[in-house]
This record gives sequence, C-alpha cells and structure tokens, in this order.
Amino acid sequence: MKIAITGKGGTGKTTLSALLGYSFSSDGKKVFLIDADPDGNLGLSLGFSSEELSKVTPISEMKELIHERTEYKETGFFKLNPKVDDVPEKFSLKKNGLSLLILGTMRKGGAGCFCPENAFLKSLLSHLLVANEEIVILDMPAGIEHLGRGTAGSVDCMLVVVEPTLKSIQTAERAYKLATDIKLEKIVFVGNKITSEKDLKFIEQNSQIVRKLIGYVSYSQEIVLAEQKKTPVYETAKQSLKEISALKEKIGTATI
Ligand SMILES: Nc1ncnc2c1ncn2[C@@H]1O[C@H](COP(=O)(O)OP(=O)(O)OP(=O)(O)O)[C@@H](O)[C@H]1O
Ligand SMILES: [Mg+2]
Repeated sequence: MKIAITGKGGTGKTTLSALLGYSFSSDGKKVFLIDADPDGNLGLSLGFSSEELSKVTPISEMKELIHERTEYKETGFFKLNPKVDDVPEKFSLKKNGLSLLILGTMRKGGAGCFCPENAFLKSLLSHLLVANEEIVILDMPAGIEHLGRGTAGSVDCMLVVVEPTLKSIQTAERAYKLATDIKLEKIVFVGNKITSEKDLKFIEQNSQIVRKLIGYVSYSQEIVLAEQKKTPVYETAKQSLKEISALKEKIGTATI
C-alpha cells in the first residue's frame, strides 16, 4: 500500500504520517516513511533529535551518488533510469522498525527540470511506489500545487487531512478535484484536531465532498506534549495511535 498524505499547511500531515507508519509497522509490515516536503520535519515526529537530523544529507543533495548513478558527464549527458534499488535501505534512518528517507528539494523549472537530481529522485520514487509488500507513506508538502505532477498519481491512496476550519476544507476539496483529474482511484479524508461532535458537524455541513470522513484523530494534548518533549509521537500519544489504527482498514478499502 502506497499512501500520499496531503492537506493544508499545519493540518497534521506529518503527525498522522508518523502515527500511521508506526501503526502499520506494529502489524509487522515493512514501512518506509518518505519526507517529501522540502521544508520537512517528519524526523522530529518520529523522535530523531535535531542533532541526528542535522547530520543527514537529503537525497537530492547527494551529488556524488547522483552523478555516479546517473553517469553524469560534463557534456550534460545523464541516464534517466539510474540504479536506485539499494538506496532506500542504505540511506534511510532507522528507529523502532521504521525507515525514514528524507528527499529534500525537487528542483523546479518550466516544463519539468531536466537535471540528474530530478531524474534520480523520480526513479527513486517510482521504485518505492512499485515495490511490493511494503508500506510507503509520503508526507507531502502543504497545499495542492505538487499534486498535478507525476508522483501523487502513482500512489494507491491519497489521504487528505482536514481540520475543522473552512480553509482546510477548501484545500481538501481542491485536492479532491486534482486527484480525480489525474484519475487517482482512491482518495480519503481524515479529520484531525477534532474537539467535539460540533467539529465533525462543521465539516459535514460545509462540504458535500469532504463530509465523507473515514475517521478522525481528536485534538490531543499528548501530541503537543510529544513535540515539546521531543519524543516519538506514537509513544506519547497512545490514544491518537489507537484512533489512526482504527481507520487503517478503511484506507485499504474505501473508494471515491
Ligand atoms: N490531533 C492533534 N492534536 C493537537 N495538536 C496536533 C494534532 N495534530 C497535529 N498537531 C500539531 O499541529 C502542528 C502541525 O502538525 P504537523 O506538523 O503534523 O502538520 P503538517 O500538516 O505536517 O504541517 P506542514 O504543512 O507545516 O508540513 C504541530 O505542532 C502538531 O504537533
Ligand atoms: Mg508537515
């Protein structure tokens, strides 16, 4: 199962990626968590220290490796399908059975930047998204701008995180529209930071599309505390872990 987690900025994409990843891994599944946000912080939610993370070179900045694998030449020639199958295992950070890969920044440029870095990242993502029997969770950048491009279309499911706010509902609706445009078959909405029935009603009453939540994670002081104490969110926020675990099945079976 390959899942892209998306939604408006600050809705809880990273927190839910960490919780969901841990939950799958507790079932004995091999889980790769991919920080696909150039301004990402998934490592912190997983309990890696700032010090550990500061020593990590994002994949997109591994120039030597990228040049070697793409057989980059001074003339500008490079391979579009470099060998990447060993990269996830070799370059991921490991903790409590989870593997974290930090992608870094995909270079932008007009009709798609033609450079060895992007060719390498693309190959890596394609490899991860076709590999069997692994759970791959992509913690995406905020918003919808990136959704029209390649990667998001190859996942099995797009999980959109929605807070009980009009703005996050609006972003979720736009994500839905884009997902259907790129013929993505499965898109599910998950509520987050829910404090009461009223919050759920608010979402229900404000969108025909987003009202079909597959479940939700409550507002949790433990999630806040995990961040303050710099502990893995799945260790400190046990109730939230239960809540996300309860909707795992639905991620697999829901259809739009
Ligand atoms: N259920 C929750 N209860 C309380 N606080 C939460 C909850 N979910 C997330 N938070 C807090 O909200 C903030 C934003 O969460 P998070 O970083 O996961 O969002 P994000 O969507 O990944 O943000 P960004 O768009 O910046 O990547 C964090 O401080 C996090 O601890
Ligand atoms: Mg995030």
